[in-house]
Amino acid sequence: TSARITIDRDFTIADVPRRLFGSFVEHMGRCVYTGIYEPGHPQADERGFRRDVLQLVKELGPTVIRYPGGNFVSGYLWEDGVGPVENRPRRLDGAWHTVETNAFGLHEFVDWAKEADVEIMEAVNLGTRGVEEARALVEYANHPGGTYWSDLRRKNGAADPFDIRLWCLGNELDGPWQIGHKTADEYGRLAQETAKAMRLVDPTIELVAVGSSSREMPTFGSWEHTVLTHAYEEVDYISMHAYYQEHDGDAASFLAEGVDMDAFIDGVVATIDGVKAAGKHRKQIDISFDEWNVWDQTRYNEIEAREIAAAGWREHPRLIEDTYDVTDAVVVGTLLHSLLRHGDRVRIANQAQLVNVIAPIRSEEGGPAWRQSIFWPFARMAQLAKGRILRLAVESSQIPTRKFGDVDAVDAAATWDEADGTVALFLANRSLEESGEVTVDLRGLSATAIRSAEVLTTPEGGDRATANVEGDQDRVGLVPLREVGFDEGTLRATLPPLSWAVVVVD
Ligand code: AHR
Repeated sequence: TSARITIDRDFTIADVPRRLFGSFVEHMGRCVYTGIYEPGHPQADERGFRRDVLQLVKELGPTVIRYPGGNFVSGYLWEDGVGPVENRPRRLDGAWHTVETNAFGLHEFVDWAKEADVEIMEAVNLGTRGVEEARALVEYANHPGGTYWSDLRRKNGAADPFDIRLWCLGNELDGPWQIGHKTADEYGRLAQETAKAMRLVDPTIELVAVGSSSREMPTFGSWEHTVLTHAYEEVDYISMHAYYQEHDGDAASFLAEGVDMDAFIDGVVATIDGVKAAGKHRKQIDISFDEWNVWDQTRYNEIEAREIAAAGWREHPRLIEDTYDVTDAVVVGTLLHSLLRHGDRVRIANQAQLVNVIAPIRSEEGGPAWRQSIFWPFARMAQLAKGRILRLAVESSQIPTRKFGDVDAVDAAATWDEADGTVALFLANRSLEESGEVTVDLRGLSATAIRSAEVLTTPEGGDRATANVEGDQDRVGLVPLREVGFDEGTLRATLPPLSWAVVVVD
């Protein structure tokens, strides 16, 4: 396969939104308990935060983390998670059939987020609760003091406000599985009134309305339209969620799912702008793609969900601990490309989730922590996508797929950092058999030297299903990309079959 990419310094899309490299911590399975938090673990600090996991989180580099759910938040009482730990109630979490001890709550997460150097994106419960509890939480978190809720926060040990700017108005309320599932009209009005009341407590906050749980939802499109028709003036973003998986061994279609993500985003942008035009609104609503990843939902629906119900009520059971292989890492790379290419409208994105639960980081109770294959494209893009997003002209040979017809064999995204004079190129070769010969014409840019070039592909002796597992934790990772260089001002690279690569030039 081959591709010719033209870059021109004058053709840019937007500044890289740093919040595009977000992640998600839900009270689900072992994301919090035995994930980021495990008192008694040899690596835990005095607060119970696992230092080994924290180290990997810092290396991964998420900028913002959504908390505490997910489906969990639609039945969660946030007050259960504050105050002296010994007084906190044990509750049944219906969403994940789990006993929630509440040993970890808002103060613990705020402390952990400070350590991890990430912004917090806090979700309120609009499943079983409403306006009152949401505005109380904003007062508790952000008001300096001298009122009931802010003084309670101070009494609970936090003199300074948490200053949480970014808030989700519930989670997946279009989904029949959601506790407190609503129609679009019901939710649209509730979101509008909750947003209004939260902003009356703190006018500086940014608010995300719930969009569709997936592009396949029967209400997709009409949901966004109705919700925004009610709440356009009160909110700043609408959410998107998407999970991708390989169906029946159809790797070609799976590797092309970035095409689906592109079309999904374009559809939501069109819907937002349609409501804007019809309502004669002046402000622009953007997208918070606050759950995305590869997730084998077939296995979850057909096997795990039944096992969970049969196993009874447990604390932090193992849930959706997907093991990611080479193919998954290449797909995750292309999904990140799609998000970056839409960075003018997708201003926030959160990979779901951070640890253990469909996550780039795995940890074992009392044991080690390690990086999954999907860790690498995220870590490099979070680190290197800086400055302006470039609008690329890509002419690629095609690959036939069952789901999308012919798609580009080489998928790309790039950024240009004028401050340090570098261009970061992110490339995926979707072909399972052929190398990708890529030439890049860098117009108006003086770059002639390769600063770094790395590639993730099938390791020696492995195949596309090779993964990092406990005991063999570094099988899949980045290795130097050797076949790359400049030839008369044109960058040339050879990408191995099934690979994701990053090249930085200056
Ligand atoms: O991330 C796992 C779950 O997927 C979340 O709780 C929910 O919002 C989505 O359906």
